[in-house]
Amino acid sequence: MSFNLNAICPYFTMFPLDFPMGVLETYGNNNQWVLDPFCGRGTTNFAARIYGLPSIGIDSSPVAVALTKAKIINVRVNQIIQVTEKILSRQEVSNIPQGEFWEYAFDREVLVNICKIREALLKNCDSAARIALRAIMLGALHGPMYNTSPSYFSNQCPRTYAPKPGYAVRFWKERKLKPPKVDVMSIIKKRAERYYGQDLPRGYGFVVRGDSTSDKTFARVKKFLDKNNAKVSIIITSPPYYGMKTYIADQWLRNWFLGGPETVDYSTDGQIRHSSKELFVNELRKVWNNVAEVSVEGAILAVRFGGINERKVEPEKLIEESLKETAWEIVEVRSAGFPKKGRRQADTFSKSKKEMVEEIDVIAVKR
Ligand SMILES: C[S@@+](CC[C@H](N)C(=O)[O-])C[C@H]1O[C@@H](n2cnc3c(N)ncnc32)[C@H](O)[C@@H]1O
Repeated sequence: MSFNLNAICPYFTMFPLDFPMGVLETYGNNNQWVLDPFCGRGTTNFAARIYGLPSIGIDSSPVAVALTKAKIINVRVNQIIQVTEKILSRQEVSNIPQGEFWEYAFDREVLVNICKIREALLKNCDSAARIALRAIMLGALHGPMYNTSPSYFSNQCPRTYAPKPGYAVRFWKERKLKPPKVDVMSIIKKRAERYYGQDLPRGYGFVVRGDSTSDKTFARVKKFLDKNNAKVSIIITSPPYYGMKTYIADQWLRNWFLGGPETVDYSTDGQIRHSSKELFVNELRKVWNNVAEVSVEGAILAVRFGGINERKVEPEKLIEESLKETAWEIVEVRSAGFPKKGRRQADTFSKSKKEMVEEIDVIAVKR
């Protein structure tokens, strides 16, 4: 069976659903809680939902948090359509971004409708229908143009990351590409049916925007778990690979939709620091200590990790080092093969499979 909701919006460093599903198949049990401290688009949280398990997701990127929330809500297609119709018919727009990039990226009427929805959701995004609409908008915001049945709002663009404005304008001008006059409502309807029309087990959990190295973030997680009289049994995650720190800048257009600036945001706030191997390893160690604090004895930690070409390191050594002097004991390290083209962290930096770094899955147990 294919699970459409997982694909609501791409996230270029996502891992395939098979990885968390495989871990849950092997180690999962009824009534367990699942956690991902670097949740990205919420693949782990979605896998937990498929297995009927509650989950927690943490990420410092607003895009990641918005997508993960959308993976565990319970909503019907008609609720999403109703809320969208209401917004489009009533919402006034106070700010429409100006300039060449915006003129070439979106047809004027399309941009007005995007801004209406953006402003309405920035004021209030509490209900499940609004959380679903927000993720649908993030997924439809930019991508390739098709001749038939348009699926994205933008001029020709990549789906997984937002192009830098100067480059994009040159690209569109050279090819004489005009932004398409698409029907925003009908794209949303189609996507709502595709992503929320499937029956899924009830979703339940908690998604936190925060830095997983920080105690403050985990104080919030602990408070939520205490309220549910629960502790975490399975952690499934993939930290940024050493040197991979452009999560916010590469998603600047989706970040704008979530209230960020109209220009590329190069900040790396709340992200693991990569200035030296030692610092990176220490930051990871803080995360492993934090997750241990909220986990049961015997909890499983499954980590997918790899490397990017720019920084020659052995991924296995980095993870082993980061787990030293923590409550976690490594019980298995296995190859996860080479990343698939167009999907994984390593792709951003390498052109051929030969240059890619093999990924590993590390399984550790809390002693
Ligand atoms: C490899 S991605 C995770 C992808 C995820 N497995 C998925 O399938 O989408 C790593 C994530 O870690 C997040 N991140 C980096 N540093 C962080 C930190 N200190 N605290 C929380 N999240 C962080 C990034 O924003 C990014 O979303």
